[in-house]
Amino acid sequence: MLKLEITAGELGSRPPVTKPHPGFYDSVGEERFRALVDEHYELIRNSDIDFLFPVNDDDDFEQAKKNAADFFIQICGGPDYFNQNRGLPQMIGRHAPFRIDERSRRRWLELYAEILPKLEDEGVKSEYIESFWSYIDIFSIWMINTPSAK
Ligand code: HEM
Repeated sequence: MLKLEITAGELGSRPPVTKPHPGFYDSVGEERFRALVDEHYELIRNSDIDFLFPVNDDDDFEQAKKNAADFFIQICGGPDYFNQNRGLPQMIGRHAPFRIDERSRRRWLELYAEILPKLEDEGVKSEYIESFWSYIDIFSIWMINTPSAK
């Protein structure tokens, strides 16, 4: 069983982040990685965090998928597509226009937790998948920019 637990996050907390194990990108490959991000966005489209994303414009939604995949491929040790296409990552600044609270972060992570187990069935080592999970689990805390609603 994969260990995909969500660390409690809060506004203003920025725990140290470790990049995913290079074996993750090596075994997933670009094509499957783009398909993974695609699946994540399609789950978002049908979720209660859809309001954060450009779900009503197909071109913008496809572009959003591409930008996210470019970044994840780059951070996982693949080609630096994001730098080439979008410039410096500046992830906190790029998320600033969107009101991301702990609840939305959790939902975003839960949607990854739904699709990552398929990679294990496809032969990707659990250790590699868990290293990707740890990266998104922790780095997503940095994206919280809005207090939780009481
Ligand atoms: C590990 C954590 C995360 C990473 C690495 C990440 C990465 C990215 C990247 C690369 C982009 C595209 C930025 C651009 O090209 O301008 C993006 C956009 C976005 N992200 Fe994240 N993200 C993370 C977490 C989250 C979370 C937790 C949420 C909300 C629940 C979120 C919501 C958004 C939204 C709303 C956009 C804009 C989509 C658009 O209109 O293009 N992200 N993210």
